[in-house]
Amino acid sequence: MDIQKALTFALILGIFAVSITLLTDWFLLDRIVNAKIGQELALKNGSDSWNRWIETPIPIYLKIYIFTVTNTDVVNSGGKPNLLERGPYVYRENRRKIPFHINTLEDSVEYQQDITYSFDKNLSYPLGEDDVVTVVNPALVGVTNILNDIEGLQSMMRIFMELAVPPMFNSPDSIFINATVKELLFSGIKLDCKRSDKNIAVFSMCSALQHMMPIKVLEKDSNGDFSMAILRHRQSLGTFSINAGNKDPGALGEILRWNKKSDMSLWSGKRCNDIGGSDVTLLPPFLNRESQPSVFSTDICSMVPLVYKEDIN
Ligand SMILES: *[C@@H]1O[C@H](CO)[C@@H](O)[C@H](O)[C@H]1NC(C)=O
Ligand SMILES: *[C@@H]1O[C@H](CO)[C@@H](O)[C@H](O)[C@H]1NC(C)=O
Ligand SMILES: *[C@@H]1O[C@H](CO)[C@@H](O)[C@H](O)[C@H]1NC(C)=O
Repeated sequence: MDIQKALTFALILGIFAVSITLLTDWFLLDRIVNAKIGQELALKNGSDSWNRWIETPIPIYLKIYIFTVTNTDVVNSGGKPNLLERGPYVYRENRRKIPFHINTLEDSVEYQQDITYSFDKNLSYPLGEDDVVTVVNPALVGVTNILNDIEGLQSMMRIFMELAVPPMFNSPDSIFINATVKELLFSGIKLDCKRSDKNIAVFSMCSALQHMMPIKVLEKDSNGDFSMAILRHRQSLGTFSINAGNKDPGALGEILRWNKKSDMSLWSGKRCNDIGGSDVTLLPPFLNRESQPSVFSTDICSMVPLVYKEDIN
């Protein structure tokens, strides 16, 4: 009886011990594997993950659809526009990071993010970059909006527009323009500033534009003329400092600063002015379907969460 009891007790103890060992092994193994994965993914100058991070190996495509207006004469006399969708015009987006500082104490990397676009003829076929589309002149509308925002200019707007628009926009007979897709997106719709010395309205407009200069859509050429394009072939998204993930793999890729600042003053409210999340090309490891990692978009100067939608193969 006593022996049987002792045996049962020993058996239970044995099973218990084996379970504990298995469990700890399993936890330990899981932790070792995770730590290993974390180490592999962390950004160390020259490592595989470093090189993949510098230049994203997965191609990123930008597909653009343009609505061309087919009845401008009807619209000019107050009618409804007829829109025809043209697209996709497919551009390959090349993102390249130029790292220039590694801070081992903070475990961060500082880099500049550049983007270039190249037209993909094959994926856009039969459409081409030289296709002409009829759209509302973005430069004309852009200038009107910009000038409207300048204090004290509103009352003079009409006069300014009447005097400055014909010489600057090549005497347009409507707000529409025929432009190639390339001009509209990249090389830009021209705003002619050559008449600046003879025409006070042109002079004022071109000076106002000069003050707007660090806006992405506007570019000044060597003749002193401006052009307005929706995108540019070569863009810089600024400098970023991100967590390198050597100390805390879960924080890999988290943006610490953008253009040397850890928050913005653009929006009202602290939450909107926060800089954080990742830049989409580098997400931390161990995410699951419930994870909602934030990404920071420089276009809207804000963070947005990514939400799981579906599995893909
Ligand atoms: C990474 O290493 C290379 C080669 O040693 C060096 O030239 C480069 O400056 C380093 N990059 C950074 C950001 O420190
Ligand atoms: C387009 O297709 C041609 C022929 O299939 C190929 O030689 C060329 O490399 C492709 N170009 C691009 C940009 O993919
Ligand atoms: C665009 O081109 C078409 C065809 O050549 C022409 O009829 C139309 O007036 C042009 N529209 C503008 C806004 O220049």
